[in-house]
Amino acid sequence: MKVLQINGGKTLEGTIRISGSKNASVALIPAAILADSEVTICNVPEITDTDALVEILQYLGANVKRASESIVIDPTTMVNKEIPERLSDKLRASYYFMAVLLAKYKHVEMYFPGGCSIGARPIDQTLKGFRALGAKIVEEKNKYTITAEKLKGAHVYLDMPSVGATINTMLVAVKAQGNTIIENAAKEPEIVNVATFLNGMGAKITGAGTSEIRIHGVEELSGCYTEVIPDRIETGTYVIAGALVGNHLKIDNIIPEHVEMLILKMKEMGVEIEVGPDYVVVSKTPNLKPVQIKTQGYPGFATDLQQPVTVLLTQCEGKSTLEETLYENRFKNVPYLNDMGANIEIHDDTITIQGATKLVGKDVKATDLRAGACLVLGGLLAEGTTTITNIGPVLRGYENLVEKLTDVGASIELKEKEEDV
Ligand code: EPU
Repeated sequence: MKVLQINGGKTLEGTIRISGSKNASVALIPAAILADSEVTICNVPEITDTDALVEILQYLGANVKRASESIVIDPTTMVNKEIPERLSDKLRASYYFMAVLLAKYKHVEMYFPGGCSIGARPIDQTLKGFRALGAKIVEEKNKYTITAEKLKGAHVYLDMPSVGATINTMLVAVKAQGNTIIENAAKEPEIVNVATFLNGMGAKITGAGTSEIRIHGVEELSGCYTEVIPDRIETGTYVIAGALVGNHLKIDNIIPEHVEMLILKMKEMGVEIEVGPDYVVVSKTPNLKPVQIKTQGYPGFATDLQQPVTVLLTQCEGKSTLEETLYENRFKNVPYLNDMGANIEIHDDTITIQGATKLVGKDVKATDLRAGACLVLGGLLAEGTTTITNIGPVLRGYENLVEKLTDVGASIELKEKEEDV
């Protein structure tokens, strides 16, 4: 069994360069097959989530070449066939294949997607978008068979601004006849990245990044080149690391606007942070003030940074509160932080954090991706050794985590350990 072992308390100095966004890449890779010729995507992180999508592409017969951070996808050799559950349940983003196969072949057979266990993650809004555009859906147990005689543009109102449903509806609408309007669309930067990519292929999308996206369907899309935006959640995670144990730690190659809400909250706490055009420099600061945080869709405070920021709240002097509004079960990190010395109480969808508390190293488990990130941060701060088991989910989302942290002075190792840790 592989574990992450961290000897905490080391000061982090130097520069961490941020990789391409996981959540943008996992939509761009399936979107590539909408083109009728070769597509190049740059700045794709080498993480297990992108590997899992490449596996699906190869299973479908696409020709994929990967060289370092670039991925070249030739979809001309593809065939449409059922995607088995063993491939789709590796990640949530596998369901972008539902959309692109529907758009390309008007027929798709695949299973409910996987993803972190952070509460119910229904796909009803995605299916609502497909139906509005003319698809018929047969659901048997976990399997979906989706067909359309003709895809026709429609007015789609999403009941909630879901990232996945916005992208899925957009992916189908680009090839549907006529005009589609997606109302109450999600506004996350990853959606803009996907829309820009599709427009590069010849799609006609306006309004991505706002709550109303308009799409005029086209018959053909052709290959193009695109670049993945920097990962705003990886950015936020390392910015928090800098506030915990940094000494002028530079987080480089970022879009500061994408983590603006985190930066504002950190300034409210009193964290010493300098914001540049494509970087921030952050240092551990004494006497932090407590704050109130509520997760929201972009540009609100990102739910994916909620668990990582909890560690920083344990270092604020007084009572902070943190409300999670998107997921019903995203506090699995809390018992482990308490075991390490934090004083956190869970009340339904809100936690209260009484600080400042000293953290000490313990044996803990990464129950999901961002819980794992939270425990890595806890381990960097804690006195002594923290051993994190079940690190698979962490490696799904953070490229070269160990190398990046080691380079700036952390003592962190990926180790083989006996099962009874
Ligand atoms: N929801 C529904 N019905 C739907 C879709 C969503 O009820 O049809 C609910 C979900 O249950 C959830 C909320 O709406 O409570 C948010 O879901 P959304 O569809 O916006 O999220 P997603 O597309 O499944 C993406 C990211 C998540 C990130 C969310 C919110 C990917 C692959 N995942 O998920 O990232 O938390 O947007 O920003 O892009 C992560 O990276 O750790 C992660 C979980």
